[in-house]
Amino acid sequence: MTTYSRIIGVGSYLPERILTNADLEKIVDTNDEWIVSRTGIRERHLAAPDQFTSDLALRASQAALQYADIDPASLDLIILGTTTPDRIFPSTACLVQDKLGAGGCPAFDVQAVCTGFVYALSIADKFIRSGSAKRALVIGAETFSRLLDWTDRGTCVLFGDGAGAVVLEAAQEPGIYSSHLYAEGQYNNSLTVPGYIAEGRLQGGNGFTTMNGAEVFKLAVANMSSAVKEALTVNQFSIDDVDWVVPHQANTRILGAVAKKLQLPSSKVVQTVSEHGNTSAASVPLALDTAVRDGRIQPGHNLMLCAMGGGFTWGSALLKF
Ligand code: ACO
Repeated sequence: MTTYSRIIGVGSYLPERILTNADLEKIVDTNDEWIVSRTGIRERHLAAPDQFTSDLALRASQAALQYADIDPASLDLIILGTTTPDRIFPSTACLVQDKLGAGGCPAFDVQAVCTGFVYALSIADKFIRSGSAKRALVIGAETFSRLLDWTDRGTCVLFGDGAGAVVLEAAQEPGIYSSHLYAEGQYNNSLTVPGYIAEGRLQGGNGFTTMNGAEVFKLAVANMSSAVKEALTVNQFSIDDVDWVVPHQANTRILGAVAKKLQLPSSKVVQTVSEHGNTSAASVPLALDTAVRDGRIQPGHNLMLCAMGGGFTWGSALLKF
């Protein structure tokens, strides 16, 4: 009998501090009207100076484990998507494992920028389908604000910090129907933090996010739409069979354009970008948890997750919640 993986717990965490568009007006030459009309973003959360990605990930993980009503020691896999690890090494997944008291199982990070959670979910699904794991914690967590140049109005208004997590368990029925991952490395300079560490300091380029906004916009719409279409085709689903699309929260114009391309009513697209900003790898599980806890997503609903990020990387996952 085929083994599938299914989500048995969801959780998320947003740091307390909120940075509004009005706050940003005091830092850079911008205004609420520009930010809202171009991106839909009204506010974002920022980690406290003493909070690291693993701290945010821990809170989201604890919420997901509590939802699933399971002991962290019963996990046999931890995968964490992040672009902002606490340290160069060890992985943030290992730090979270230690904080949870879930030692012993494999734990590793996945770097696919904003597609990090979809990549991590897909890998965990494959571990479970192959019989290598029975219970996995999958996390997307970021302190992306630490990669922002607060004098660059073109990027600093877009991003925020946060974390989301799910617990996946082996099941006899889907669960995850399929997942689809892609990358096109020729766009590595279109969205990047170009610096690297050597000889004890940052070398080459710099440590801030740089972006070709127009190119990201165009390819985000095209790639997320095509990844969704692929998942529909492979599973012989129509878009009407999907109850909710839970996309990476880049901005409302990108989400609107994806919905239009898929002939999908915007009312079926979970949108949290107005309150969260773009939280990179954390955005899909944050949006998922938000819509589960406010009652929109119900057990048995068909969900389409999709994301696109630096690399470029992109992907989708179709699942029954
Ligand atoms: N406030 C006010 N003015 C601004 C700001 C700001 N925060 N940022 C840029 N501007 C100015 C520009 O300097 C430019 O001025 P100019 O005409 O005098 O040169 C003007 O606004 C227009 O700039 P454009 O870049 O043409 O604005 P556009 O309408 O294309 O929107 C945006 C820019 C919002 C970045 C858009 O390209 C976009 O949404 N791209 C996708 C980016 C994204 O989502 N990145 C996230 C990471 S990738 C991912 O998650 C998939």
